[in-house]
Amino acid sequence: MRDSFEILLLPGDGIGPEVVGAAREVVDVAVDHFGIEVRYEERRIGGTAIREEGEPVSDETLHAASSSDSVLLGAVGHPDFDDAPVRPEAGLLKLRKHLGAFANLRPVAAIPALLGSSPLKREVVDGVDVLIVRELTGGAYFGEKEEGEERASDLSVYTREEIVRVARVAFEAAKRRKRRVTSVDKANVMATSRLWRKVVSEVAKEYPQVGLDHVLVDAAAMYLIQSPKRFDVMLTENLFGDILSDEAAMLPGSMGMLPSASLGEPGSSGIFEPVHGSAPDIAGEGKANPYATILSAAMMFRHSLGRPDVAEAIEQGVSVALEAHFLTPDLGGKKTTEEVTKAVSRWVAAGEGVA
Ligand code: NAD
Ligand code: IPM
Ligand code: MN
Repeated sequence: MRDSFEILLLPGDGIGPEVVGAAREVVDVAVDHFGIEVRYEERRIGGTAIREEGEPVSDETLHAASSSDSVLLGAVGHPDFDDAPVRPEAGLLKLRKHLGAFANLRPVAAIPALLGSSPLKREVVDGVDVLIVRELTGGAYFGEKEEGEERASDLSVYTREEIVRVARVAFEAAKRRKRRVTSVDKANVMATSRLWRKVVSEVAKEYPQVGLDHVLVDAAAMYLIQSPKRFDVMLTENLFGDILSDEAAMLPGSMGMLPSASLGEPGSSGIFEPVHGSAPDIAGEGKANPYATILSAAMMFRHSLGRPDVAEAIEQGVSVALEAHFLTPDLGGKKTTEEVTKAVSRWVAAGEGVA
């Protein structure tokens, strides 16, 4: 097992620096516990990069990302740029494309200590365990754009190859889970979705041990709230995955709980970032929930750095802190970002639950 890593930190905007700072503190404690060496480089992305460097992500930062082992990112976006010609979000999209990070894994599980934090009924949420696999470098996000005062368009394109590779990620994941893939599309209206459905069905033949069903995205949005336990792996395109994952955040109860991993071909750097945004409404107030970013760091150790032992130690620290009611306001608690971070760090350092 490797024991030395280079991590690029991209805190970004709003609460980004607060939650990345928290995750770094927990990672430091975890690597200390395991005798691992981590070297960090920190750079700008998003609104802060536009202000200081004139663009939302520089070529140097893109280069630093591809030459690091992994990227740990906070969030980008700020209302100051709502009418600007170049937006902070463009930096994140460019980074994803640059690293070829086409598969975005967004695990959504009910957390026993948080069953009371979800706006949904306990019996609906208890036992939920869904993995959203969102295609991340295609579709309307990256198609040709036209933007005028009278007319605007976002072209959505998917190629067979783009669908095949992300579908394989979903089926491989399902093999290690409950062996069920639900592909979500809008094949009753969209041409891209009809190709999507056809290609996913073809890929499914490579995985006879995994079941496949297709659900239209509007119905999937309803099932996610009505009966989320019907889902194991949910495979979908870029735009639908973006929307469905924010909806799914209400299963554990807050945007502040969902981590993610954005992965490309083996050997390329992955991006690990919370699903939530820069939350400008609470930035700088010590209210940001750091669990999503801490759990994203755990995903980094599992999916990119080949150290599932470190991932488990961090996840265990999070579970114990949640059980001990270290909850930020979004979860109905009164703890600060710092209090939560210190609690998780303490339990990780103590090796609580670590074999
Ligand atoms: P958001 O996710 O930033 O916030 C939505 C709501 O959830 C807000 O009320 C916010 O306070 C709350 N929230 C989010 N994360 C939280 C956390 N960790 N702890 C406590 N509460 C949290 O979404 P938005 O307000 O629609 O977008 C704000 C900006 O963030 C926009 O510029 C958007 O483009 C950007 N954004 C960035 C990313 C990213 O960088 N990956 C993701 C989503 C949105
Ligand atoms: C996310 C975000 C991004 C997306 C934005 C900030 C570009 O909402 O990671 O979910 O839409 O992919
Ligand atoms: Mn989103």
